[in-house]
Amino acid sequence: MAEQDDTYNQLINDVMVSDSNFLMDIILREYAGVFLCINSLIDVAGGHGGSARAIAKAFPQMKCTVLDHPHVVEEAPTSDHVSFISGDMFKYIPPADALFLKGFP
Ligand SMILES: C[S@@+](CC[C@H](N)C(=O)[O-])C[C@H]1O[C@@H](n2cnc3c(N)ncnc32)[C@H](O)[C@@H]1O
Repeated sequence: MAEQDDTYNQLINDVMVSDSNFLMDIILREYAGVFLCINSLIDVAGGHGGSARAIAKAFPQMKCTVLDHPHVVEEAPTSDHVSFISGDMFKYIPPADALFLKGFP
């Protein structure tokens, strides 16, 4: 549906960034140890990178990359700290120290 409807695509991506802004504060505060010693991370199906931006801000040495569908990545705001890759997670995920997946609760 998001691929075919620009308004819905924007809405769902904005919703997910809001969700990530709220949850990642808690996750990074309560479980920061999980991210220690990780040098590279792929946020698989990471939308507009709300989670990846929060992780990159908390761990500036980490190379953070978001993988998502082209219609999502094309509309993602650019970032100096997070890279975006278009693709299908069932076909290819770039190599990294860690894969991060977060869905909608
Ligand atoms: C519920 S959103 C979660 C977004 C992000 N992980 C977050 O928590 O803010 C689901 C995301 O999965 C992406 N997605 C679904 N199937 C995918 C696939 N096969 N490959 C890459 N991304 C996919 C969608 O485009 C969407 O951005």
